[in-house]
Amino acid sequence: MEISEVRRNFEREVLEVKSPEQLESLRIKYLGKKGIINKFFKKLKELPPEEKPIFGKEVNSLRDYIKNLLDEKKKEIGTGKKRERIDLTLPGRFYSGGSIHPLSLIEDEIVDIFVGMGFSVVYGNEVETDYYNFTALNTPEDHPARDLHDTFYLQDGRLLRTHTSPVQIRVMEKKNPPLRIIAPGRVYRVDAFDPSHSPVFHQIEGLYVDRDVTLGDLFGTLEEFAKRVFSPDTEAMFIPSFFPFTEPSAEMKISCPFCGGEGCGVCQHTGWVEILGCGMVHRRILENLGYGDYTGFAFGMGVERIAMLKMGINDIRLFYENDLEFLEQFR
Ligand code: PHE
Repeated sequence: MEISEVRRNFEREVLEVKSPEQLESLRIKYLGKKGIINKFFKKLKELPPEEKPIFGKEVNSLRDYIKNLLDEKKKEIGTGKKRERIDLTLPGRFYSGGSIHPLSLIEDEIVDIFVGMGFSVVYGNEVETDYYNFTALNTPEDHPARDLHDTFYLQDGRLLRTHTSPVQIRVMEKKNPPLRIIAPGRVYRVDAFDPSHSPVFHQIEGLYVDRDVTLGDLFGTLEEFAKRVFSPDTEAMFIPSFFPFTEPSAEMKISCPFCGGEGCGVCQHTGWVEILGCGMVHRRILENLGYGDYTGFAFGMGVERIAMLKMGINDIRLFYENDLEFLEQFR
């Protein structure tokens, strides 16, 4: 092989070296005992005397050249850096950051309002027993909510909670009044997706138990909440309703956030929209838990419902489809 050919081969091979191991085997191939350079030196001995000086010089300079390049390569690999190949004039790349899901935004906002009123946050279980989801909440065996058509049952007889109200019982079992808690979380009902239904949605439960808590406290607290979460001129109205675990029970309506009460499609031209269920904790529940001397109020609201009213969203499915065009609006 010609010296010039060896040089070219080496130059090509050294470019391909990426690891210290590859570098070492390249070094052995060229500079090792049985390497290419040593073969040239052996050949040198057999040459006629007049050719020795010139050939010897060429081999020496090839050896130095190879050594140098191997050293340089070693530094390059050693620091893990390639030679500078960055074009600083190129425009930067745009990475879109993540954003908080609109439901989380609203949930946080609602939680903050109640925390500001002295409520503390607790979390319950999404998998519940029949006892906590129904029985302890004064919901009789034959209540339609227990129907298979409304409740997801697990094979072991437990169920996916259909509301956050079981947290009321769990909290009252563990802690003595005075109690002021809210419990946000997912709840499940057997429903098909449509613009206003989803088999999973979010609720925030509230519970306040102390001596002499009144219906007036309930109304005042929730009206203040509505003004803070919607707008200060929001009006509230309470309509008698029924829940097995509260007595009396009420539904809270607020003046429509869209038309301000004049009547529009959202409020079905009534000027009012329903936002939550509430009531005074049923005497039987308090007595069962040994709190006969106390009174309390409870409420439960759908986070999706509040979010839809606040953000002008008309289809609950948007919260669950992960469509970036929808989600990016809340960045
Ligand atoms: N749990 C009820 C529901 O899901 C709401 C509610 C909670 C009503 C607390 C009264 C008191 O509809």
